[in-house]
Amino acid sequence: MSLRNQPDSYGSIAKWLHWLTALLFLGAYVSVYYRHWFTQEETPANWTALQLHLSIGITIGVLVILRIVWRLTNPVPRPEPGTPLEHFAAHAGHFLLYLIMIIAPLTGYIGTGADTDYFFLFEIPKFESTQAFVAIVQEQMGLTFEEFEKPVDFIHKKVLGEWVVWILVLGHAMAALYHHYVKKDRTLLKMTVTSKSKKRE
Ligand code: HEM
Ligand code: HEM
Repeated sequence: MSLRNQPDSYGSIAKWLHWLTALLFLGAYVSVYYRHWFTQEETPANWTALQLHLSIGITIGVLVILRIVWRLTNPVPRPEPGTPLEHFAAHAGHFLLYLIMIIAPLTGYIGTGADTDYFFLFEIPKFESTQAFVAIVQEQMGLTFEEFEKPVDFIHKKVLGEWVVWILVLGHAMAALYHHYVKKDRTLLKMTVTSKSKKRE
């Protein structure tokens, strides 16, 4: 299997980055809702679940940078036959997914009031304790952390977390299944198995 993308398939690096990110998105949701639904405030389990959410979220933020670099330096596999509208929807959907992979970790990090104990290995200071916060938010924008945090949290939790991410990811996964089972083309295979050997009839 090639590391780089090929005309008829994503390469193994793009596949690993894609499926690892998908798994981490699941982990980000499981950890934060486990915290909400199954733990009591101020217990070790509540803190551990939060720390897992923060660590997973930051990992997604780092992976998306690698992913964008890899995407820009690799050929994109040929799209399967489809109408111009289908191709436009696929491009727009992928673009929006990249956007949420940037905005969700960013709003999470700059809006959190807790330092991250990254997978219990080392500490990453919260944005509020950094020089960047003082220079940009306090001095340039003239805001306190509480004033700054409100809209940022609203975007992170309500707009993205509760709605946009679900709708986009679900729509994206449904589209992949539609291609595989209804159109019977190679869209899903391009992101899963090795090329050539698995042609669809
Ligand atoms: C792709 C990455 C991320 C996704 C999809 C995500 C998603 C979510 C969701 C769904 C919630 C719960 C919303 C609610 O209250 O109903 C949440 C809460 C939260 N997120 Fe994230 N998040 C991500 C990354 C981050 C990062 C990087 C940080 C900070 C370093 C962070 C910090 C928080 C905090 C502090 C909360 C509130 C915790 C709580 O209410 O229990 N998130 N996030
Ligand atoms: C069960 C879940 C998922 C399935 C079945 C799935 C399936 C696929 C497939 C088949 C492709 C190739 C599409 C094509 O070449 O036209 C793809 C690409 C892509 N997926 Fe997913 N995916 C899933 C989850 C996710 C998640 C959670 C994200 C990020 C939030 C994501 C982001 C992307 C992006 C950005 C691309 C475009 C890749 C590129 O060209 O750079 N996917 N996905």
